[in-house]
Amino acid sequence: SLSKPNKSPFASPLNSHYTQAFAVEMQTFSKLLSRYIAGTNDKLDWEKVKSPATDQIQSYDQLPQPKDEIILLKHLAVLKVNGGLGTSMGMQGAKSALEVKNSLTFLDLAVQQIAHVNASHGVDVPLLLMTSFNTHKDTLRIIQKYDTKQVRITPFMQSKYPRILKDSLSPCPENEKDDKAAWYPPGHGDLYTALYRSGVLDRLLKDGKQYLFVSNSDNLGAVVDSRILQHMADTKAEFLMEVTDKTKADIKGGTLIDYDGTIRLLEIAQVSSEHSEEFKSVRKFKIFNTNNLWINLKALKKVMDNGSMELDIIVNPKVTEDGRSIIQLETAAGAAIRHFSNARGINVPRSRFLPVKNCSDLLLIKSDMYTLEHGRLVLNEDRMFGTTPVIKLDDHFRKIHDFQKRFKAIPAIIDLDHLTVSGNVYFGRNVTLRGTVIIVANEGQRIDIPDGCVLENRLVSGNLNM
Ligand code: UTP
Repeated sequence: SLSKPNKSPFASPLNSHYTQAFAVEMQTFSKLLSRYIAGTNDKLDWEKVKSPATDQIQSYDQLPQPKDEIILLKHLAVLKVNGGLGTSMGMQGAKSALEVKNSLTFLDLAVQQIAHVNASHGVDVPLLLMTSFNTHKDTLRIIQKYDTKQVRITPFMQSKYPRILKDSLSPCPENEKDDKAAWYPPGHGDLYTALYRSGVLDRLLKDGKQYLFVSNSDNLGAVVDSRILQHMADTKAEFLMEVTDKTKADIKGGTLIDYDGTIRLLEIAQVSSEHSEEFKSVRKFKIFNTNNLWINLKALKKVMDNGSMELDIIVNPKVTEDGRSIIQLETAAGAAIRHFSNARGINVPRSRFLPVKNCSDLLLIKSDMYTLEHGRLVLNEDRMFGTTPVIKLDDHFRKIHDFQKRFKAIPAIIDLDHLTVSGNVYFGRNVTLRGTVIIVANEGQRIDIPDGCVLENRLVSGNLNM
């Protein structure tokens, strides 16, 4: 349904027939939109953007061992942000509902990880799941089978904001009940508002919880770490962001900067094109944000009580299915770092950042390169040198449906260094790939890698003559 031009985005949602919760949500949205229109967001002076000072980034390797792990864990809650869809992998539902290993989904693995922490230490770390209107049902379906004795799971929903037309800034939805496509979940930065509004934050504090560990639901490396928790307790840091060394693959990731003496998150969307090369280089910004965040809950409550926490706005432009240019105003969780005292980055090993952003990542995680231990991914000890192979599947494998169709079974890749697959390629069962393997089917060709095939340092193009 098309909006009337120049309709005020603020007026209609507050009409009396709307629910109270919806009205409050629209007020928060209006504040965000006003900030966007006022342009207060853009005022980043590049001259002041500095690499973080050495005391703003703590090396993980130098953290001491925890003194009393059980006391620390008793005060911990874990939150997975789980409101996003796996759209870049062509999924209709929650990415976290995807089966990653041994028929277990991301959510199952998260539950198993926490259940193990609880069972092995005799503690009761709760698992919070922030869902959105897009992912709530999928999430409930998966978690319903779990017994609350192993882990208490609390799902709570994030906000639902109206998409706005790029030119007129009119909202796409006509009313509260309008079609799903007219709305969006406003990024993981919404977690603070969602925790506060839902009453979940108060309940955690009432239960004596002091620390919250937040991570992306698709990051299988984000396991509870008592050394970081101990560091938080020792230094009274109210906010810690796990960062890790940037590689070529991560140049677009958000980074920590020193801005006028304050630590801040800088996202590429906030950087003008003239500075984007500098942003991406590893010279000035060596690390990027893994979105594993540790937050002091009392401090969070204080910030929220003092009025809403303003986070940098990230403008996400999109074109809808019916061809309209819209924008979504979003925020990132890590941007909250500037609102906390004693906040800093912890430079962690890469193993704490194992996300599934695309089907190449999925192939690696599903393969024999990793085994599962209590929901944790463990690098197979038969793998030499501790590195993982570089995998590049082209667009024929972009959508999860195509990936599943093209791999009858996941090949054995324990001795693989590099795999490039391009074109119309299908893999049979019991395939083994070793060294460097490049498979290229040209336009109009189809390559079938037969069952039981072993490819070692091979370039395959055209027909495969075994
Ligand atoms: P992102 O959407 O920020 O990054 O989600 P991504 O996984 O790289 O997404 P794509 O593949 O580029 O689209 C990071 C985490 O934040 C959650 C997601 O569910 C994911 O766990 N998220 C994202 C929310 O909880 N709410 C949102 O509104 C957006």
